[in-house]
Amino acid sequence: MELTERTFRQIASLMHVVCGLSFADSKRPLVSSRLASRIQKLGLRSFEEYLTLIETHDTGGELQTAVDLLTTNETYFFREPAHFALLEQELPKLGKRALSIWSAACSYGDEPYTLAMLLADLQMQGRVGAEWSILGTDISDKVLTAARDGVFPEERLRSVSPDRLKRYCLRGEGDSAGLVQLKQTLCERVRFGWLNLCNEIEQLGPFDAVFLRNVLIYFDPPTKVQVVRRVLSQLRPNGLFFVGTAEGRIAEIANLRPIMPGAFRKVAE
Ligand SMILES: C[S@@+](CC[C@H](N)C(=O)[O-])C[C@H]1O[C@@H](n2cnc3c(N)ncnc32)[C@H](O)[C@@H]1O
Repeated sequence: MELTERTFRQIASLMHVVCGLSFADSKRPLVSSRLASRIQKLGLRSFEEYLTLIETHDTGGELQTAVDLLTTNETYFFREPAHFALLEQELPKLGKRALSIWSAACSYGDEPYTLAMLLADLQMQGRVGAEWSILGTDISDKVLTAARDGVFPEERLRSVSPDRLKRYCLRGEGDSAGLVQLKQTLCERVRFGWLNLCNEIEQLGPFDAVFLRNVLIYFDPPTKVQVVRRVLSQLRPNGLFFVGTAEGRIAEIANLRPIMPGAFRKVAE
């Protein structure tokens, strides 16, 4: 099965229109290898047949599967710990008012649940009030379903301290060995919803902090600018904004003051 340049361009263009994903010509082998086994599994004979399926015959499930195959959902608890340390230091300065944080491409939920552990600890220490909430959104239904279950392979919690593991997690036994179930009290502080960052978004905030980490890498420069501006419109003035540390020169896109790699403060207008 060969992915011709023409079909590659058509698939890349569909992915760009639907969810802003950007694939340079050099990504043709990657797209080919990621979709090939799916095509065989479906009993199709060519990339062209697959394109027809995702383009016209199926606007939901299979297109979604293609997006999942072409992006990575890689994530884990306390990824880039300096960002969480900064948040831990900054949030208590806001006093005991209600706090709200958004994880805007949350994948399997590791990031919003990390935030929930952090906020629950701050509340326990009396450093923030009891009224706080976390929102996690993603374009993939598959990851959102898993996130709502709150069950994770132990390995993804490798950076969670033993104290927190004890407070917020239950270790699986027997058939569930190697898995961790988050406690209900933690899960209920996190809401999940489907959201495509490349579409206009309704009013969700204002948030005190927004995490938009490790997703901008998929977008071309104009899409990246639009997504950052759209997301920032939901952040309070002086709110904290986080991206992946390798995701480029974000401060030039909007009115942001750099604090550390990947962390910014929205400048009040
Ligand atoms: C690598 S994960 C990042 C997870 C987490 N933020 C972290 O840093 O660990 C990237 C996520 O972005 C999601 N994604 C890709 N394009 C998107 C879009 N247009 N709108 C919303 N989410 C998107 C993918 O489904 C994937 O779950």
